[in-house]
Amino acid sequence: MKTKVLFVCLGNICRSPLAEALFSKHVLDLGLVNEFQIDSCGTSNYHIGDYPDTRSYQNALVNGVRIEHRGRQLTYDDLIEYDYLLAMDRSNLADIQKLTKQDGKEGQLLMMREFDPGANQIDVPDPYYGGDNGFQEVFEILERSTSELVLHLQKRRRI
Ligand code: 4NP
Repeated sequence: MKTKVLFVCLGNICRSPLAEALFSKHVLDLGLVNEFQIDSCGTSNYHIGDYPDTRSYQNALVNGVRIEHRGRQLTYDDLIEYDYLLAMDRSNLADIQKLTKQDGKEGQLLMMREFDPGANQIDVPDPYYGGDNGFQEVFEILERSTSELVLHLQKRRRI
């Protein structure tokens, strides 16, 4: 059985598609592609079908990572389908919790930065309205966090 992992932010054009791309890269590097199903989505309907934000896409590319994703909105079915949902910030977490029915069928809801060894705050900051260096900061946060997450989930698969 594959471990199903879903990254969730607000718009699904900046943070969560990058988290998806970075996590997928780590999974590939570790030879674990057959063990994970990976996707991302947004809590909002603002960017359904959209390409990633150009600034986020370009910044990732400079760092050697290609983001391949189109925006989509989180649904209740995702909560049933996925084993782990990773919220980028507390506002995303609250929006996901509004969808839950807490009937025990839903995947585990976690904060992305629980896995950031360098974390000095809880949220992955939203870079959408900030300057360009926000995208590099988000890249570095997500690089650290997704590296830890894949190791954590791989250990759990072996239990
Ligand atoms: P994301 O960033 O949640 O990391 O994809 C945002 C993208 C778009 C908007 C807000 C945040 N927006 O308001 O359109």
